Amino acid sequence: MSSIEIDGHRIKVLFSEAEIAGRVKDIAAGVAARQPQKLLVVPVLKGSFIFAADLLRAMHGAGLSPEVDFMMLASYRARTSSSGRVEVLRDIETDVRGRDVLLIDDILESGRTLAYAKDLLAARGARQVMTAVLLDKPGHRAAELDADFKGFDCPDRFVVGYGMDMAHAFRELPFVGHVVKT
Ligand code: IMP
Ligand code: MG
Repeated sequence: MSSIEIDGHRIKVLFSEAEIAGRVKDIAAGVAARQPQKLLVVPVLKGSFIFAADLLRAMHGAGLSPEVDFMMLASYRARTSSSGRVEVLRDIETDVRGRDVLLIDDILESGRTLAYAKDLLAARGARQVMTAVLLDKPGHRAAELDADFKGFDCPDRFVVGYGMDMAHAFRELPFVGHVVKT
């Protein structure tokens, strides 16, 4: 299966369920190898929820026992890549002082969202803030940020599935795809 049709949209598979599962396992092993202390995992909602759910279970398999709390951020894009604003729609309830934190997001593009979250948690006294992203789109970076862990380099296309949406649709797809016909 290399593409599917849903409600008149044709979606081409970019990263299959099996490929994703393999990378998720690798990332969990990579996190475990850092031997994090008092690990708190913070998925950045909404797009990361499926990746985070799979990564958390893989982290259990890798011998880790993290706590989990959630953050929801909205980033407003300005016309120029040098500006743009991030707003906290839902904050974590956990005190991060002295803890190792792993932020999880779906896509790293401009880097603004994760740079904002990372700075915020570091300013609150986290011992270390690591980042894991499923996809890296390196072409549009505005903030100085590289993910500590990433699943795949992603072509410069709008992608959906595995938690990611187009106008709230397609989050349920078990693979990452791009919409070739709308
Ligand atoms: P940035 O790194 O601050 O630019 O934020 C990247 C965020 O933009 C991701 O977490 C997604 O929510 C969203 N995003 C970027 N590219 C795509 C895409 O191709 N499909 C769906 N969401 C995207
Ligand atoms: Mg997002």
